[in-house]
Amino acid sequence: MKQFKINMLLALAVSASAAAFAVAAAQPATIKDGAYTVEQAEAGKELYERRCSSCHNADFYKTAFSNRNNQPLAYMFEEILVTMPADMPGSLMDQEYEQILAHILSITGFPAGDAPLDYNGGSMHTVNIVPPES
Ligand code: HEC
Repeated sequence: MKQFKINMLLALAVSASAAAFAVAAAQPATIKDGAYTVEQAEAGKELYERRCSSCHNADFYKTAFSNRNNQPLAYMFEEILVTMPADMPGSLMDQEYEQILAHILSITGFPAGDAPLDYNGGSMHTVNIVPPES
């Protein structure tokens, strides 16, 4: 009976770690793997055009991504969160900044994925910035 219990525990441990591996594999490692959703980027379009596009264009963000090669996306998000829009820093809600960053990723050529950018949920800390294609 004792042996049976141990075998059961082992089987559970193996299947639990297999499940954890499957979840980890589905998470994007870089912004090229789909770090935001289409819906999120669309939600950010209007805000972006009203609050950001007067000072920056897509090329500006491409350069910003290149300068931040290999950094967690959270670093750039935090910078935006506390300093942008430069004429009224911190004036948007976290969720709005997430939508804006999703829109920026879409206009600089990075693909959408299955899960939204989620700063408070921690997803931006595990996804790294890489330079855009061109
Ligand atoms: C009134 C002008 C203005 C507005 C509006 C504005 N910015 Fe900026 N932004 C600046 C200036 C000035 C800098 C710093 C100098 C530079 O890098 O050109 C900057 C820098 C940045 C950077 C580079 C930060 C880095 O370290 O990588 C990002 C990204 C950025 N802004 C995003 C945004 C976003 C997103 C919005 C809208 C929420 C926004 N900006 C609105 C003027 C503005």
